[in-house]
Amino acid sequence: MAVLRLENGQQLTDLSDIREQLAILGIQLQHWPVGSNPKVSALLAQASLSEDEKVTVLASLEHYFEKLQADSGYHSRDLIALHSGIPNLEELLAKFSSPHTHADDEVRYIIEGEGIFGFVKPDGSQVELTIQAEEYINVPANTPHWFYLTPQRQIKAVRYFSGTEGWVPEYVDIPIRIQAIAA
Ligand code: LAC
Ligand code: NI
Repeated sequence: MAVLRLENGQQLTDLSDIREQLAILGIQLQHWPVGSNPKVSALLAQASLSEDEKVTVLASLEHYFEKLQADSGYHSRDLIALHSGIPNLEELLAKFSSPHTHADDEVRYIIEGEGIFGFVKPDGSQVELTIQAEEYINVPANTPHWFYLTPQRQIKAVRYFSGTEGWVPEYVDIPIRIQAIAA
């Protein structure tokens, strides 16, 4: 389950308390079950997935995509599987660990593992959200955020896109003050 750390060290673990804080920034956090298909569970337990295996996992989650397409116009998706065995993992992560924005919403459904998103509240204070399996997040376009992996260094997420360009990071000059979770 998600945890929200505040800059003063306070931690929120209650989903409705976390949602209330994130709603100030227009960020949505939802609990979306991945279901109990044994084949999919076995694939999610693997560190990496072949292209065919990704197709199988995405097919089992198609109902979520259909709803997002109908309600919000997200028209494509992919599955990203990051783990410590990926040779260029640090290089990939470095793109997202500094504060940035996107011209499109950042829409992610975590299906295995975990990651950390940082945000800045309107009062200037910083928060970090640990997001875990079965959690869906929608970060509105132009919201500064940063992202890194927890010491577990493993995550699988479905990424939903409304365009082909809008997800490119645009870096913003915000110093991160909140204490990171040690890698
Ligand atoms: C991204 C994240 C992880 O831009 O912030 O994909
Ligand atoms: Ni981003």
